[in-house]
Amino acid sequence: MKFKIATLPGDGIGPEIVDQAIKVMKAVGKKFDHEFEFNFAVTGAAAIDEVGEPYPEATHKICLESDAVLFGAIGDPKYDNDPSAKVRPEQGLLKMRKQLGLYANIRPVTTFPSLLHKSPLRKDIVEGADFVVVRELTGGIYFGGKGRSEDLKSAFDNCEYSTEEVERILKLAYDYAGKRNKRLTVVDKANVLATSRLWREVAQRMEKDYENIETDYMFVDNAAMQLIQWPKKFDVMVTENMFGDILSDEASVITGSLGLLPSASVGKETSVFEPIHGSYPQAAGKDIANPVATVLSAAMLLESLDLLEEAKAVRDVVNRSLDQDVVTEDIAGDKKAYKTSEVGDWLAANL
Ligand code: IPM
Ligand code: MG
Repeated sequence: MKFKIATLPGDGIGPEIVDQAIKVMKAVGKKFDHEFEFNFAVTGAAAIDEVGEPYPEATHKICLESDAVLFGAIGDPKYDNDPSAKVRPEQGLLKMRKQLGLYANIRPVTTFPSLLHKSPLRKDIVEGADFVVVRELTGGIYFGGKGRSEDLKSAFDNCEYSTEEVERILKLAYDYAGKRNKRLTVVDKANVLATSRLWREVAQRMEKDYENIETDYMFVDNAAMQLIQWPKKFDVMVTENMFGDILSDEASVITGSLGLLPSASVGKETSVFEPIHGSYPQAAGKDIANPVATVLSAAMLLESLDLLEEAKAVRDVVNRSLDQDVVTEDIAGDKKAYKTSEVGDWLAANL
């Protein structure tokens, strides 16, 4: 079959890691007789430099016309320390999420046995942890009204959610839990926030329609703590935009494999697949970044196209590379560190 893949490498290490995912997808195409057409487009700081804005209309059009979007990373240090910058790379990411209606960000967190020693947690705490963070992605404080007072001495960011926004993300989270271990943890701050009380009210109503799924409720501060103490107790965790941003970063490092974790953002239009780590500017251009999170994002992309056997082939070859220590310097330890491009070549050749 033929598929159109919008390819948005973005900033920092984005281009290098996306290149490796493309190699692997081409190998999939060859093995399973598919044709992937990679249509490149700019986003982030790279797009600001080129056309003055971080998610240009031309890029959006390519995304809309594609079967899936393969995304690298966004962010550039030259904007991070400049609070007065008029346009920021991150605005491109938010605009893309909004315009494609990507209301759910799905971040599966799994442990890799050969990498448990990399976890900042004790092996017995983290071994076997396997859960999914479902983050609401187009609402809440990220997209509420924001601004400064006239005298610039105060600032505000509003957090708003509608019942409909809460229902659709909870439905997706329940469906995920139904396909997994049938436990859903709704994370909020209902002891303080009105939006959280709406989330809880909606969840308590919907809970009755999902009798086969055990729902529990947790305040976000407590969830942040329990993720560290008992990561194994979670199956699917669902939460609002900003809590999800914070908890998913926390969740990603407890397995010791930040460079290995993929994500999918899904919603109304074309879905976007990207590694959860950022643009890692210090490593840009050095051919040292770990491409596996992007390659596993490509596996999630293949699943979204219903290419299940193909996705499994990608996961299998990644597991073999880890078993055989064909890995980049972040996880090589005292063994030989392979280059980004060498890992990509190995994965493509051994698929
Ligand atoms: C993420 C990132 C983004 C976010 C930034 C880059 C705007 O941290 O995808 O988690 O906050 O959503
Ligand atoms: Mg984040």
